[in-house]
Amino acid sequence: MPEVRLVNVTKTFDGGRIVAVDHVNLHVKDGEYLTLLGPSGCGKTTTLRIIAGLVEPDEGQVYIGGRLVTDVPPEDRDIGFVFQTFALFPHMTVWENVTYGPRVKNWPESEMRRVAKEALEMVGLYERADAYPRELSGGMMQRVGLARALAAGAKLLLLDEPLSALDAKIRFELRYELRRLVKDLGLTAIHVTHDQAEAMSSLIGLLSCVRVGFCRLAHQGSFT
Ligand SMILES: Nc1ncnc2c1ncn2[C@@H]1O[C@H](COP(=O)(O)OP(=O)(O)OP(=O)(O)O)[C@@H](O)[C@H]1O
Ligand SMILES: [Mg+2]
Repeated sequence: MPEVRLVNVTKTFDGGRIVAVDHVNLHVKDGEYLTLLGPSGCGKTTTLRIIAGLVEPDEGQVYIGGRLVTDVPPEDRDIGFVFQTFALFPHMTVWENVTYGPRVKNWPESEMRRVAKEALEMVGLYERADAYPRELSGGMMQRVGLARALAAGAKLLLLDEPLSALDAKIRFELRYELRRLVKDLGLTAIHVTHDQAEAMSSLIGLLSCVRVGFCRLAHQGSFT
């Protein structure tokens, strides 16, 4: 089960001159939707990348489902990552992007098709399955990114400012849709944002980065 625990996690860059993440302790329970809120540059993306195994911390431990994952490579952490910038494969259609994960995992064709269709319907883009990313708007690409993460079957979803490129109306709708999806699918999610309204409206947990460059846990708990 994808409970996530960070213990004293620290990451510096540039020979120690930049402290991106400073002794962060964080506990996200199974099934929880935690919002990490903090200003630009305070280490939010770095924190997610550490959980995903894309960045190695200088100090501290990451536990997923109670298991220390220091030596577990990103592809074996079973995490769906929706990136801050669109990270779709440009030469693949929407359908090919979304089925990429199941295909790599050698899922049976029928199962793969069912899950991909469901994920695309959830984000309202099944009709655009044959389009290439360059034919879509920014918001649509972000929704394909979300469908791709959902279709890969991961139980832990890391969302790095997934709504920032969307216009206000879609952002508002998707904010609630995301929460509902995570609940319905029994996932655990960590959602990074610097938008206070986004964090407050969704709040189950809140992490504030108290100073730019130093991501520390200022508060974790429910405000709702
Ligand atoms: N690969 C890297 N090399 C050097 N410095 C880095 C690297 N990645 C991040 N940093 C630095 O670490 C700090 C935190 O960066 P990070 O991307 O985690 O911030 P963020 O909170 O996600 O910001 P934003 O809200 O703008 O996305 C910044 O000072 C950034 O310049
Ligand atoms: Mg970031």
